[in-house]
Amino acid sequence: MRTVILSTVSWLGLGLMVSGPVWAQDAADAVAPEAGSAAAAGDAFGGLSEAALAAIEAKEAGRPVEAENWMVAAANPLAVEAGARVLREGGSAADAMVAVQSVLGLVEPQSSGLGGGAFLVWYDATTGAVTTLDGRETAPLEADPRYFQDENGEPLGFWDAVVGGRSVGTPGTVRLMEEAHRRWGRANWGGLFSEAIELAEQGFTVSPRLAGLVAGDAERLQRFPATAEYFFPEGTAIAEGDIKVNADYAATLRAIASEGSTAFYTGEIAADIVRAVRGTETNAGLLSATDLALYDVIERAPVCVTYRAHEVCGMGPPSSGALTVGQILGTLDYFELGALGPLQAESWRLIGDASRLAFADRGRYMADSDFVPMPTEGLVDPDYLSERAALIEATDVALESVAPGQPEWDHAMRLADDISLELPSTSHISIVDGDGNALSMTTTIENGFGSRVFVRGFLLNNEMTDFSFRSHSDGVPIANRLEPGKRPRSSMSPTIVLKDGAPVMVLGSPGGSRIIGYVAQAIINQLDWGMDPQEALAAPHLVNRFGTMDIEAGTAAEGLAEPLGALGFETNLRDLTSGLHAITIGETLLGGADPRREGIALGE
Ligand code: GLY
Repeated sequence: MRTVILSTVSWLGLGLMVSGPVWAQDAADAVAPEAGSAAAAGDAFGGLSEAALAAIEAKEAGRPVEAENWMVAAANPLAVEAGARVLREGGSAADAMVAVQSVLGLVEPQSSGLGGGAFLVWYDATTGAVTTLDGRETAPLEADPRYFQDENGEPLGFWDAVVGGRSVGTPGTVRLMEEAHRRWGRANWGGLFSEAIELAEQGFTVSPRLAGLVAGDAERLQRFPATAEYFFPEGTAIAEGDIKVNADYAATLRAIASEGSTAFYTGEIAADIVRAVRGTETNAGLLSATDLALYDVIERAPVCVTYRAHEVCGMGPPSSGALTVGQILGTLDYFELGALGPLQAESWRLIGDASRLAFADRGRYMADSDFVPMPTEGLVDPDYLSERAALIEATDVALESVAPGQPEWDHAMRLADDISLELPSTSHISIVDGDGNALSMTTTIENGFGSRVFVRGFLLNNEMTDFSFRSHSDGVPIANRLEPGKRPRSSMSPTIVLKDGAPVMVLGSPGGSRIIGYVAQAIINQLDWGMDPQEALAAPHLVNRFGTMDIEAGTAAEGLAEPLGALGFETNLRDLTSGLHAITIGETLLGGADPRREGIALGE
């Protein structure tokens, strides 16, 4: 049972700030916490435990949360509390993830849920092995590379592609939850959904962030009757503090809890998903019952790169996450960032150009390696990265031009470059359990509110728009083109950092393709500049993907705009709403939660 504790704790994450102008596609990300809200955390989330309130206080004060045995960090306190209960009762990190994800799908439906996909990195305390599970969505088998092109072969406009059934890929999250539990769980599967079911049936408190995002997406959310009915009952947007019941979600969870993922991938739920996708009035999709019945989670080898004598391990293709984070860090390993500081232009010249070089390779080479040959090992080979570092070393200003390199590859293939939009939604879960197992999972329905198609109490993803809309450029194929059954390239970067074979850091973030920069920076902040996890997550962001140096507005990093401009970077002040969640493992566990969002870290 949830306990309601009245508190006067102030909460950085309560106020709403819809900033502008921002790119329309970034609008879903633009609700950021504002300091100084007078509302109490207990009210905002409908009553939290004393431990959760203390975690919020720590976050407000800029302190990490400390624990001896276990810890969980995620994007909403109700979801974190569900995971904490599982861990307190002796459940594993995989058990806790199932509880956290099922609550997140209810209270943070815009970011992740049953209708989406996820990547999971697991450190096994018994064997010392790192394993990754790929629960990414697949393209419908009836789709082809021209799926997002008009009759002249020209790419559709982004929003014309996103909203509606066309952008929906086969969801992977439910099967991933089940597979992780089958491998590493020890709690009763059905019981892991009880908290989410209770919240869905009795009602959860609509958070400030959810309310703000619903209001900001009113037109698109009201295009489809089921979506409008849930988010705009009787035509009015759900508001902060409303008690929201989601009986359909509870029923879906009950079916999964009693019958397993089969209840989702076959039968009536699957039939309803297919009907919803193929039946949208505009932009109907091609997802079929066959796609759902055939869906499988894939175990893949982790991608690990050495940085400052640590192993940084994460998710390989179809995610570009670990490869691109790894390329950035592997290149920077040739420079002494520790001798510089976090707010020095030279640090960001090095990080910025290492990122630009990595993103150039990402655009050329990275995609679903089950469909496209990839130089996966060559991209993070230290000799190759030393060549890339030499390009940066040869100058003391921004690189004039940046192009993909030629990593070692026993394959001859011409590929064209691609910049696919990946927009900031998504959610990240970090967990360490009482046995020392560690779990890092980034989970998404892609854009805020995904395809906006709502069925059985949850939203369906728009992950297909992570593919390149163009299949070729001047007759040369693009690696991340859409193909039937293929998984779109991701930027999600669930990460576990190891030292001498033991995990020392578990982290990840939402943020579209900026995830890569957020995660790389959080690691640099800790390994080079000695920050604790809360400081590392709160530090002002600078992110460079395709050339422009994004600088977090309203922070001390603004002071870098002028010197970086003088070095030749194009700079852009903007919100950079990461949602990092990190746990470090040392003599004790230390947890951090991104002050830009509503999450907390909690442990005992
Ligand atoms: N859709 C966000 C990502 O996969 O990176």
